[in-house]
Amino acid sequence: MSQDENYPDKSRSPLLLRSLRGEKIERPPVWMMRQAGRYLAEYRAIKEKHTFLEMTKSSELALEVSLQPIRILNVDAAIVFADILTPAEALGFEIDFAPGPVVKNPIRTPGDLNRVSLEQENSVYAPVTETLRSLSEAMAKFPEPKGVIGFAGAPYTMACYLIAQGPLKHFAGTQRFIAEHPRAFSEFIKKLTTMTENYLEAQIQAGAQVVQLFDSWGGNLSAEEWRAWSLPSIQQISEKIRSLGAIPALYVQPASHLLSEIAKSKIELLSVEWRVPLTEAARVLPEEMALQGNLDPTELFKSPEQVRAATLAMCESVSRKTRFVANLGHGILQETPRECAHAFVDTVRRIRW
Ligand code: CP3
Repeated sequence: MSQDENYPDKSRSPLLLRSLRGEKIERPPVWMMRQAGRYLAEYRAIKEKHTFLEMTKSSELALEVSLQPIRILNVDAAIVFADILTPAEALGFEIDFAPGPVVKNPIRTPGDLNRVSLEQENSVYAPVTETLRSLSEAMAKFPEPKGVIGFAGAPYTMACYLIAQGPLKHFAGTQRFIAEHPRAFSEFIKKLTTMTENYLEAQIQAGAQVVQLFDSWGGNLSAEEWRAWSLPSIQQISEKIRSLGAIPALYVQPASHLLSEIAKSKIELLSVEWRVPLTEAARVLPEEMALQGNLDPTELFKSPEQVRAATLAMCESVSRKTRFVANLGHGILQETPRECAHAFVDTVRRIRW
């Protein structure tokens, strides 16, 4: 079941969905991870008057910044403005941003897990679902309808932020917690999985057509550890997303050592990180898994001409003409010149297959 069956005319379906369904399309759809953000002066203007938290808690402000990359760059999909740590407040965590996430009451001992409960779900999710509802209405009205993307952190990556790290770098504190308290860690992942399922269900009901899980630190794990500590929750959430009629997507980095595990994840779209050649991802992953990516975000520091050439080369490297979404291989960087973001998006939009 698709999310857009209200459209009587099939050609009114967003290019993103037509591509993911494997339909014959004229060019790849394009959007950029972290497309709402500080590289845009229009975002910085709002950021001068409001904190990041205020922006995520006001559906009006969140809608405005979610729409900016659509209006300015004409990307083919909008991603709802929030953070992967936003829903952790529903579990009783106090979160701030400086600018990265700061958790004021992290998990230090297994006993701390007793205070993790799903008490404030509705009030925490409400601004995000309200934003998605308005975003979906706005996107369907565009002359060329745009896709609507929701997201959440994968449970393992959420646990990386929510477990106290002390002086340890690269989230080694999470590995120490697993080594010392494997059963408590499993219990924590289960709670995070339930929360994420509920949160994404609310997002899908509000109009999210594709839902991307960010396992941004999952690649710190060996393949064996990822299979044990991250993959099961991703499989469970992906099945839930599918059962609700939306498309589950995943981003993991680094990913080259995890491709054969990712193949078992039940996701429908892999957002390939920039270090993995798309040809390699296509070779290892099952045919039915669509690919997204994966220009190195630092390529956007080169001249617009070079960005154009690199973008074309990336799209040409994908032999399939459908089930491919052009994107960056990680979030767009704050210092990216605006004309290079334009060059990336415009180049994809001008392709004719
Ligand atoms: O993509 C979008 O436009 C939607 C919004 C979005 C944000 N964060 C807004 C944000 C999304 C999808 C995220 C996901 C996210 N957040 C991830 C996964 C993606 C990835 O990069 O791997 C992670 C790991 C986080 C955690 C996080 N939040 C970090 C590390 C930071 C600091 C980033 C930085 O560049 O300094 C944040 C803050 C944050 N989240 C900002 C934005 C726009 C910057 C806040 C500001 O404007 O001050």
